[in-house]
Amino acid sequence: MTNRDLSTTVDRDTFRHALRSVASSVAVITTCHEGHLHGMTATAFSSVCADPPTVLIVVNQSTRSHPLISDSRAFVVNFLSQDQRHLGDFFSAKTDDQFDSVAFTRGRNGCPIIDGAAAYLDCETISESVCGTHTVFLARVVGAFGANLSPLLYHNGAYRIVGDAA
Ligand SMILES: Cc1cc2nc3c(=O)[nH]c(=O)nc-3n(C[C@H](O)[C@H](O)[C@H](O)COP(=O)(O)O)c2cc1C
Repeated sequence: MTNRDLSTTVDRDTFRHALRSVASSVAVITTCHEGHLHGMTATAFSSVCADPPTVLIVVNQSTRSHPLISDSRAFVVNFLSQDQRHLGDFFSAKTDDQFDSVAFTRGRNGCPIIDGAAAYLDCETISESVCGTHTVFLARVVGAFGANLSPLLYHNGAYRIVGDAA
């Protein structure tokens, strides 16, 4: 690799520029707290461990989702399929009554499982860890399904499908 900067810290723009080269699956994190259903578009997800099945998500504390996920201690990671770009936009647009117009079933803790998603993971929070503006939610997976549909990706500031040229 060339053009490496070996200074001990990086500024925000350098950090963001580097991450534009990283492709991620697009998910909608859904939750249910005291009967209120909510979802937000997210790419900050990682599988952590298969035994026991464990994942993490990273949520900005300024989102409406944050207190709902924190208080309910339950969420579903819905990985969008390539035909669901409109849901990526919809769930990042701070719309009200989101689930009046989105078809879903419910997971073990009542969180929405979005129809047509490429895969979902039904999760229960194990721990929360604050890092700057965001919180890392570590969670046990209590339900999972993969539909063998092509995933929706996010790369270099835009939605992509597998096989797209950047
Ligand atoms: C492609 C994409 C990925 C995103 N990933 C995240 C993420 O991982 N964590 C996060 O906190 N916000 C993420 N966001 C921003 C939230 O979707 C956005 O702030 C949303 O309005 C939050 O909704 P809420 O306030 O209704 O919860 C992402 C947005 C887009 C478009």
